[in-house]
Amino acid sequence: MIFLPKKKKRSLKSDALTTFGLDPDRLPVHVAIIMDGNGRWAKKRFMNRINGHEKGSKTVRTVVSAARELGIAYLTLYAFSTENWARPKAEVLALMQLLKKFLVSERQDLQEKGICLQVLGQMEKLPEEVRNQALETIHATRNNHEMTLNLALSYGSRQEITDAVRAMTKKITAGELTAEDICEKTVAAHLYTGNMPDPDLIIRTSGEFRLSNFLLWQSAYAEIFVTHTLWPDFTRDEFIEILTSFQKRDRRFGRVECSMPSDG
Ligand code: FPP
Repeated sequence: MIFLPKKKKRSLKSDALTTFGLDPDRLPVHVAIIMDGNGRWAKKRFMNRINGHEKGSKTVRTVVSAARELGIAYLTLYAFSTENWARPKAEVLALMQLLKKFLVSERQDLQEKGICLQVLGQMEKLPEEVRNQALETIHATRNNHEMTLNLALSYGSRQEITDAVRAMTKKITAGELTAEDICEKTVAAHLYTGNMPDPDLIIRTSGEFRLSNFLLWQSAYAEIFVTHTLWPDFTRDEFIEILTSFQKRDRRFGRVECSMPSDG
């Protein structure tokens, strides 16, 4: 059984979810997506990679809308990794422009849909104009409770864990924490995702079977779904199909189903 946090309300009535074949009580609370394949999508059409990212931005809008409509409480999108800074300058610039455009153009819509925006990653590394727009959208949407949209920007899981270790070490030095106090909950609380549940479902588009430095700690018990669809071609219908498939998975969290009487 998957429980929703108290504050988050489902936006679709149970019967409407059932028309998609979805069980409202078994929806993932947190869905995270590795949006991959923009470059290949463009290449297949003899287009520039940047055109792929532009089309990919439109898919972002579709998926955010669908997630909100279906009542997903947390949606995390891997939009720019710490490794992506090493891409050609023109591509990095184009991605930053697209992010800025998204942060400005979607502000009103996020607000109307009750979506709260958060950024996971090294915000200080983003160009000032992108950072400022991100801060403005975060501020404008901070009291929204229908869904949380996390954009992972300049995000790397190893960097996140390193930052958490540094923050805990500083607290130990300041006498606010002892080494003995540190347990899994302490570590989790110091991650960028400290205030939210772990992802239940991680989707990766474009057929690659890897996590690419994404939510390594948080994905310990996530169900992983890889689709061959390239991100710009990903649709609301495929998203619903994946959610349907998620609901058929047997999540045991390392335990076993206890169907036999015990010996003693
Ligand atoms: C991976 O495809 C995708 C990215 C590195 C960037 C994702 C960005 C977007 C979807 C658009 C902008 C985002 C927002 C939130 C507006 P790739 O370029 O690695 O594709 P390839 O593996 O086919 O080359």
